[in-house]
Amino acid sequence: MLPQEIIRKKRDGSKLSTDELRYFAQGIADGSITEGQVAAFAMAVFFQHLDADECAALTLAMRDTGEVMEWASLNLPGPVIDKHSTGGVGDVVSLMLGPLLAACGGYVPMISGRGLGHTGGTLDKLDSIPGYQSTPDNGLFRHTVQQAGVAIIGQTACLAPADKRFYATRDITATVENIGLITASILSKKLAAGLDALVMDVKAGNGAFMPTYEESRRLAQSIAEVASKAGTPTTALLTDMNQPLAASAGNAIEVLEAIRFLKNECVNERLKEVTFALCSEVLQTSGLARNDSEALAKLQQALDSGQAAERFALMVRSLGGPADLMERPESHLPAAPVILPALAEEEGYLSSYHTRSLGLAVVQLGGGRTRAEQTIDHRVGFDGFLPLGHKVSPGTPLARIHARSEDDARLALQAFKESIVISPEPPESAPAIYERISS
Ligand code: URA
Repeated sequence: MLPQEIIRKKRDGSKLSTDELRYFAQGIADGSITEGQVAAFAMAVFFQHLDADECAALTLAMRDTGEVMEWASLNLPGPVIDKHSTGGVGDVVSLMLGPLLAACGGYVPMISGRGLGHTGGTLDKLDSIPGYQSTPDNGLFRHTVQQAGVAIIGQTACLAPADKRFYATRDITATVENIGLITASILSKKLAAGLDALVMDVKAGNGAFMPTYEESRRLAQSIAEVASKAGTPTTALLTDMNQPLAASAGNAIEVLEAIRFLKNECVNERLKEVTFALCSEVLQTSGLARNDSEALAKLQQALDSGQAAERFALMVRSLGGPADLMERPESHLPAAPVILPALAEEEGYLSSYHTRSLGLAVVQLGGGRTRAEQTIDHRVGFDGFLPLGHKVSPGTPLARIHARSEDDARLALQAFKESIVISPEPPESAPAIYERISS
């Protein structure tokens, strides 16, 4: 096979065979295909697209360029399941979903990422826990999944190496925004975890990765279809990102919110609705629940009994974090030296968030990256966000800014004010979950 003939075939709009896609993915991973050819292939696909068969074949081919985890040898008494999100602001779902699923009988080997652009990353959040090893060796990872039922860790170099190179090339050749390529990229990494079932959270709204509702919907459909074709039953939920999902945004601050949620101390209803709905999907797909009401009852029981909190504690301890994190989170999680409240200046209703700008304000505070190699400040961010539609009057606290200096806090306050709108009339209420998509 010749790379240029495969590129030509796609450029001219023909369907590629599984063998051709395998050859190309392997060549991307082992370097036998040149940078120019990788870029030309990405552009050919960008304009001519992949159908669902091609997308499933490319997904599996990219997955197979690295290690594919196997769990059968552990004889786990439950299914291996996971969730992936396209990311957003205050999207702390993974930290609660993993332990909740574990408490309901699932095993969750979650490979998560760092923050990207304005969106936060689960790995950055967990790195705010002192001692937590987010890149353990394979033995410790497997042991933690077996013992705690959940281990949330970072991506290793052995996982879908073709995607690492392909994504980097797409990033600099204006070829990221293609549903087929995004689907293959996300799923090649997720399916390398050897899952029995997956649920996908595709965000829609002004803080989402996809620019329009329709595009988010198309991505959700593509992922559900391709993952299921590739042998991992998957459903997707389209969820709202026109406001931060949690009441906080920032690394240690979101961990604290997740711990309070798991301890049933402070449950944000919107966050709970989305978390439980995603859990319910994958509990049903994997056979751990027969229907939504059974799943929701199991999840509530996992929360009320403290079993979900216990699973989180076990995971943290197994991966090197403090044994008493759940009992005394504030004494372990780093805290910012400056806290500044953002107060309403007028009467009215909180009617919109510019969610992407809020995410960028966290980056500006030091809680995210502008360059890949940058270290971040886990202490900074926001908490106390009010939900859209909340009635406010002058002096009502709208949020609190956590910053490393007074100057940073003042800049973030300005950014926050520019990210919200207060109107005399209440906004139309928007659902937290728009749609369920199955293949
Ligand atoms: N996230 C990924 O992992 N890959 C893409 O192509 C886009 C977002």
